[in-house]
Amino acid sequence: MNPSDLFDRLANEYDQWFEDNPMILASEIEAVRQVTPSFARAVEVGVGTGRFSEALGVPLGVEPSFSMARFAENRGITVVRGVAEALPFHDASFDTAFMITVDCYLKSLAPAFAECYRILEPAGHLVIAHVDIDAPLGEVYRAEQESDPFYRDAYFRGTGEVLRALDDAGFEVQRIRQTVYSFEDILHEVRPGHGEGVFVTLLAKKR
Ligand SMILES: C[S@@+](CC[C@H](N)C(=O)[O-])C[C@H]1O[C@@H](n2cnc3c(N)ncnc32)[C@H](O)[C@@H]1O
Repeated sequence: MNPSDLFDRLANEYDQWFEDNPMILASEIEAVRQVTPSFARAVEVGVGTGRFSEALGVPLGVEPSFSMARFAENRGITVVRGVAEALPFHDASFDTAFMITVDCYLKSLAPAFAECYRILEPAGHLVIAHVDIDAPLGEVYRAEQESDPFYRDAYFRGTGEVLRALDDAGFEVQRIRQTVYSFEDILHEVRPGHGEGVFVTLLAKKR
């Protein structure tokens, strides 16, 4: 199924998962926060229901799904309809772009990373968060992929593949954090590096 149809259908369920797992959400927000540089003009690509942008103070998002965007707008985020592969902004419009758990809905990372590169000013930053399929919990995602509507058609990746794609797109990775070591709704530690936590965050700077 086309990801934006999927999220149009399941926006309530997606957002409710965070309501039911507030400590996992807090752990993930902290992992993003630890790699986030100070910013003045920022956008979240694939803003979804806006929980991360709201927490981080990002005022603007891009989102293809109307139902997801409506949640984000209700959280005070301005949302522009669009996709990562064709961002509706001029070159060098932002100092920071965020892409949080969007990569697994993209068949190829290169077009999206090229667009993020284009809309960032020189030395601008891209903050990525993704599900690291190479972490121990990745086994569970793989085992449940077919039965989970959110992941049935997902393109899961390891952090190594994301790092290579960032390098190919002209980004230098400066910070890496990881968190979420089980599905228990507890505050999970945020640690440097990757390979243990299933939620990995990266700070990449435009070379
Ligand atoms: C797992 S959700 C993440 C939402 C939000 N970033 C968060 O972390 O809660 C993935 C989001 O990516 C959006 N999406 C899917 N394909 C996309 C594309 N090609 N460009 C931009 N966003 C896309 C979906 O509509 C959905 O809102």
